[in-house]
Amino acid sequence: MLLQFRGDAMASIREIPGGISRFERIGAHTHIRGLGLDENGKAVKIKDGMVGQEKAREAAGLVVKMIKEGKLSGKCIILAGPPGTGKTAIAVAISKELGPNVPFIQMSGSEIYSAERKKTEILVEALRKCIGVEIHEMRKVYEGEVTNINIMTAPHPYNPYQKVPESVRITLKTKDEEKTIEAGASIAQQIIAQGISEGHVIQIDAETGRVADLGICLESKKGKTYDVDVSKKIPRPEGKVLKEKEFVYTMTLADLDQINAKSRSGSFFSLLFGGSETKEIDTEVRMMVDEQVKQLVDEGKAFIHPGVLFIDDSHLLDLEAFSFLGRAMESELVPIIILATNRGIARIRGTDIKAPLGFPLDLIDRAVIISTYQYDRESIREILRIRAEEEEIKIDEKALEQLTDVGQKSSLRYAVQLLSLASQNAKMMKRDKVTVEDVERVSSLFMDVNQASEYLRKHEEKFLTH
Ligand SMILES: Nc1ncnc2c1ncn2[C@@H]1O[C@H](COP(=O)(O)OP(=O)(O)OP(=O)(O)O)[C@@H](O)[C@H]1O
Ligand SMILES: [Mg+2]
Repeated sequence: MLLQFRGDAMASIREIPGGISRFERIGAHTHIRGLGLDENGKAVKIKDGMVGQEKAREAAGLVVKMIKEGKLSGKCIILAGPPGTGKTAIAVAISKELGPNVPFIQMSGSEIYSAERKKTEILVEALRKCIGVEIHEMRKVYEGEVTNINIMTAPHPYNPYQKVPESVRITLKTKDEEKTIEAGASIAQQIIAQGISEGHVIQIDAETGRVADLGICLESKKGKTYDVDVSKKIPRPEGKVLKEKEFVYTMTLADLDQINAKSRSGSFFSLLFGGSETKEIDTEVRMMVDEQVKQLVDEGKAFIHPGVLFIDDSHLLDLEAFSFLGRAMESELVPIIILATNRGIARIRGTDIKAPLGFPLDLIDRAVIISTYQYDRESIREILRIRAEEEEIKIDEKALEQLTDVGQKSSLRYAVQLLSLASQNAKMMKRDKVTVEDVERVSSLFMDVNQASEYLRKHEEKFLTH
């Protein structure tokens, strides 16, 4: 019986195969890893998940170079071309090329319409999220390994049976010095709350009293004996215990707006309702932030990193939004604005005026336009092949040819959709490879835009119109 039990217990332990699984999601553009250019900025036909569309990719490459050199802020770039020709894909590739340190915000033209906030407010916030501010600050800190800690308690003022920390005496050690400091209740509380004890390396801001636990000191007893530990191990700091240190924070203008708005609205409301979630930030706060940032830049304490605001489907913006953007481009702290549209000559939203791309002429005048063109057969086939790989779909060559036909006749996007559906169909048929049969079946079950409008026209009288 006992043996049996043991056997069960053994059996219940199992090893999890493979590495750590991570959250993966296949989106429309997950196969795009960059613009796929060589070192001279020339587009390689198939690279980084990109296929064809060489001119647009090379133009985008130049844009990336200029953004990196900080030469393009306040400029507008328009990506124009028919649906499904890779405008969004190129914008995604630009963001990949820029890397994680340059802010890149992507929104759709439709996002400016909200019942709660003004259009311009949404645009200002988006613009400000794209301006990175790197702030350097020198601060006086006490820093060292804690070698002795002594927390003094006193009776609680309202409940004499309860003890509360009143002050703390800490000895901090660096490679060159050892110093004992005494601090008040707030620091004592932070030390207790963070579970700081001998062996930890801590940093106390001399001005604000904020305590930061940096990790466990490698040279301490704890650092030598603790094997399994969640804390980071770091060497004992050098220099004096009290020193000036440089701190670098990277934030965006929008972050700074938030912080300033919060610190200002320390009113009754925030006390009563437990927060200061401001829906809209005053222009005054923004102006103050701008002034402070400019001052810091002049003093050499801050650096500006203009990022990119990408507005997809920009034909959904209206005249008001366009003129706001036009004006914003002329101010000092603005990012690069990339607008994408698939409209030809179209009405500018909010007016009866027809204009190229559905954009006001003065905006087009200020911008440079990158065009994308319809794909040739070969490119469509290659994009479908890459998508199949990305979605882990096996497909035979004949089926791929047929999907390429669909891509040419209808659109690339529709062919990509059919690919996923065909793979699902193959799975249902218990096959691990997509064949012509699957493509035919899903093509007969679903309609593309042309088929759908044809169908609607044919059966027009049977549909409700009001
Ligand atoms: N040159 C390309 N290389 C690789 N994949 C591409 C390329 N162009 C487009 N794609 C892929 O094809 C699909 C459709 O392209 P995308 O969405 O970028 O088109 P779009 O021009 O933005 O269309 P729309 O005007 O409808 O917004 C996406 O999955 C995209 O990632
Ligand atoms: Mg798009």
